Amino acid sequence: MPNFTVEQTLVLIKPDALKLSLTGYILSSLSEPHTGLRIAGAKIVHVTDLLAREHYTEHRSKPFYENLIDYLTGRIHYTNEIHKRRVVALVYVGEEAVARIRQTAGPTNPHVARDSAPGTIRSLGTLVNSEAELPKDSVARIDNLIHASATLEEAEREIKLWFKPRDICPQLRAWETVNCEEHFYCSDDGLLFTTHQKGATCLLAPGKPAWKSDLDLLHEIIEVGGKDPRIWTVAAKYLINGPDNSIQ
Ligand code: GTP
Ligand code: MG
Repeated sequence: MPNFTVEQTLVLIKPDALKLSLTGYILSSLSEPHTGLRIAGAKIVHVTDLLAREHYTEHRSKPFYENLIDYLTGRIHYTNEIHKRRVVALVYVGEEAVARIRQTAGPTNPHVARDSAPGTIRSLGTLVNSEAELPKDSVARIDNLIHASATLEEAEREIKLWFKPRDICPQLRAWETVNCEEHFYCSDDGLLFTTHQKGATCLLAPGKPAWKSDLDLLHEIIEVGGKDPRIWTVAAKYLINGPDNSIQ
C-alpha cells in the first residue's frame, strides 16, 4: 500500500444482517475498542447484479455462484421489497486490519463458526438448503452476515471496486490517485468513449480524482478499442446508487 503504512480492508454488512437488524451489533463488534480499527469510508449501496458479479468474480465457476449473487443483491431476503435491497459497505483501517476483521467475522460456514469460534459474527449466520441441483452434501446458500476481504490484494481490488477516492477521507486513501484530464463515458453494453454518446453514463470528467490503476486501465481499453469486460471493474463504483440502476 504505497501511501499508507497500515492496512485497509473492505467489509460488507450483507442483506441477511440488515433484515435481522444486526447492523448495530456488527458495527459494535468491529469497533475500535474491540478491533483497534477505525472506519475510513462508509456507504449504503443498492447492489446491482453487475456489482455483485464483479465483487464475487473469483467464484463465478462455483455451483453456488448464482445463489450467492441473488443473496448479495438482496433478491433473496427482500424478494418483493426492492427498496429494502441494500448492503452497508465499509472500509476499515488500522494495523493488521485484514486479519483482525476476518477473526472477528469468524469462519465462512456459520456451523463451523458456532463449533470452533463461538462469539464471532458469523456464528449467528444460517445454512440454507434447497432442492437446487448441487453436488451431494453441499448447501444452496451460506448466509453469513458479513463479507470481509481475505488478503491485502483482495482488499485493494475490493475497496477500489466499491469506493471512489473521494468516498474515503483524504488522509486515509491508501493508493495513488490522479486527476482525470478527459471525459470517460460508458454505455449499457460496456463500450467506453471519451466523448458523449446518447444514453451513455459519464464515469469521469476533467479534474475528478480517480485511482491511478483505474485511469491506466481506461486508457488501455480506449487504446485497444472495442468491448473489454474489465470496464466494469472501473465503472461499477461510478454506477452505485445511480438514478435508475440501469446497468443490471
Ligand atoms: P466472503 O467474506 O463473503 O468473501 O466469505 P469468505 O471469504 O469467508 O468465503 P469465500 O470467499 O470462499 O466465499 C464467498 C461467499 O460464498 C461466502 O461468504 C458464502 O456466502 C459463499 N460460499 C462459500 N463457500 C460456499 C459453499 O461451499 N457453498 C455455498 N452454498 N456457498 C458458499
Ligand atoms: Mg471471500
